[in-house]
Amino acid sequence: MAESMKGLHRTHRCTEVSNQNIGETVTVMGWVQKRRNLGSLIFIDLRDRSGLLQIVFDEPKVGSEGFAKAENLRSEFVIAVTGTVKKRAAAVNENLKTGDIEVIASDLRILSESETPPFPIEENSLTKEDLRLRYRYLDLRRPDIQRNLMMKSKVSMLLRKFMEQEGFLEIETPILTKSTPEGARDYLVPSRVHPGNFYALPQSPQLFKQLLMCSGYDRYFQIARCFRDEDLRADRQPEFTQADMELSFVDVDDVIDVNERLLQYVFKEAANVEISLPIQRMTWQEAMNRYGSDKPDTRFGMELVNVSEIVKDCGFGVFTGALEQGGSVRGINAKGQGSMPRKKIDKLVDFARDYGAKGLAYFIVNEDGSYKSSFAKFMTEEELKHLVEKMEAQPGDLLLFAADKNKVVWDVLGALRLKFGQEMGLMDKNQYNFLWVTEFPLLEWSEEENRFMAMHHPFTMPMEEDWDKIDSDPGAVRAKAYDIVLNGTELGGGSVRIHQDHIQEKMLEVLGFTKEQAYEQFGFLLNAFKYGVPPHAGLAYGLDRMVMLMMQCDSIRDVIAFPKVKDASCLMTDAPNVVDVKQLEELSLSVEQLEE
Ligand code: AMO
Ligand code: AMP
Repeated sequence: MAESMKGLHRTHRCTEVSNQNIGETVTVMGWVQKRRNLGSLIFIDLRDRSGLLQIVFDEPKVGSEGFAKAENLRSEFVIAVTGTVKKRAAAVNENLKTGDIEVIASDLRILSESETPPFPIEENSLTKEDLRLRYRYLDLRRPDIQRNLMMKSKVSMLLRKFMEQEGFLEIETPILTKSTPEGARDYLVPSRVHPGNFYALPQSPQLFKQLLMCSGYDRYFQIARCFRDEDLRADRQPEFTQADMELSFVDVDDVIDVNERLLQYVFKEAANVEISLPIQRMTWQEAMNRYGSDKPDTRFGMELVNVSEIVKDCGFGVFTGALEQGGSVRGINAKGQGSMPRKKIDKLVDFARDYGAKGLAYFIVNEDGSYKSSFAKFMTEEELKHLVEKMEAQPGDLLLFAADKNKVVWDVLGALRLKFGQEMGLMDKNQYNFLWVTEFPLLEWSEEENRFMAMHHPFTMPMEEDWDKIDSDPGAVRAKAYDIVLNGTELGGGSVRIHQDHIQEKMLEVLGFTKEQAYEQFGFLLNAFKYGVPPHAGLAYGLDRMVMLMMQCDSIRDVIAFPKVKDASCLMTDAPNVVDVKQLEELSLSVEQLEE
């Protein structure tokens, strides 16, 4: 039967007890990890969020009633133990922080019993994630997840501390709000008072933080929950947390400066990772050309090589055709992969097709200097020689080429490069490569919508030197936008914002907004800017991603207490779910029964 803890006070967490306490009486509380009966002695590993502590029950010390209780202890019972700290009688356990001591119990209370858990509560669980997420409250007891959440708490504290020192104010912005233009689908909340009207949950605090600059708050920051109805991936959740900031009277370098110091401070204090400043910067164009990605993983090479010049007059129609269409031919050199069997190469071709390629051309340099290739027969010896030279190919290398529009070529080779990087073990888990990617294009052509879209958002400032191209060649205008990338993951992003109304008007026009539409959607921002707006800029980190990378987790779900799964549902609460007809009526809503 569960007992009360009347009269008891916990004196220590499990691993706060140390050999400094030998001879002292302590009271510890937690969960039973494991019980071992050794006849006259019973051993318990007691667990709390700090770790494990060995408790020994010896009948003469704990009394016959206490000993009988100890005999019945099972995993996950919650107990309180009072006892004396002793040096371990048996061998020291080097793997345990408290491995040189044990507590000889004089009193035991069972605070609550436990049914047998559906999976063992242990580090590096082999239990399927679905089951763990269904019982997330048990999963959250596991030490690795606990460490992740403790780290997240620590990172939040450090961020707040740093921001405070730098003169930032923490200001909350609304959750029930109007659609924000981050480009994902909104989550909507129906209004009861205004039938047929909806709030949107914020995709980010973007417009509000800009308004705060307009209102003179100068330096804002917030640890803000954001909501985006988009397809989930390993590093994406429908609700996630941003460490969000905005600064007035600044340009790109000012934002980068404060953020480099922030990253240096937080990574050092939280994870003991040294970041040497300045962090490397690379323009978007260079990142795409060299890595085929706007978030390059720079821990390894295997860079893309443009061979368009070499193959432009060759006899291989796939290559020349792509060039005639204004595309390019580029390749990567998978060093030492030349012995890859044909079947596996065919798999790579399928992989490339998933990324939009029409095919993939290969060239293998055999150990004897001869070659095997899907296209060599269409090329002269001279062309092949140049190709091999340009690709820095040596015997044993596998060269892969894609010919298409630049975007397709980058996507395909960028993805292949990462695949090889992973499979060849080229990504060192203990290396932290930060990179600023700058000068993003302002606009991105959307095939779907048949118009230009803002690459970051419609309030991002174009680069002054490109502005005269906004009518003649909008796609060539670069933006004062930047991302901070860590080991191939986009950790954060931001931009300088437009504060001049003529630029903003033009931008909205290029994006296809009529004046009425623009005012309908963000009239409050456009109006506010009529009353004196300072130049301003900002950035937001994905806080979950930051902790995920610090803790070297494979999934963002491992750093969120109650995450959603791929179809955006919560396995523990069964959200989303149907609601009462009465609730719908109050909201003037009715649901059409969709056919299964
Ligand atoms: P952006 O859309 O780039 O910029 O978002 C900033 C950072 O938030 C993280 N992030 C996510 N993390 C988890 N799950 C998601 N679904 C998700 N979506 C984004 C990423 C990303 O780098 N308002 C602008 C910032 C600004 O301009 O100041 C914004 O939201 O790490
Ligand atoms: P095909 O002319 O489609 O039979 O292709 C001939 C060879 O070129 C095959 O090995 C294809 O995989 C390869 N290939 C086709 N399209 C491309 C492309 N866009 N880029 C690179 N290789 C390609």
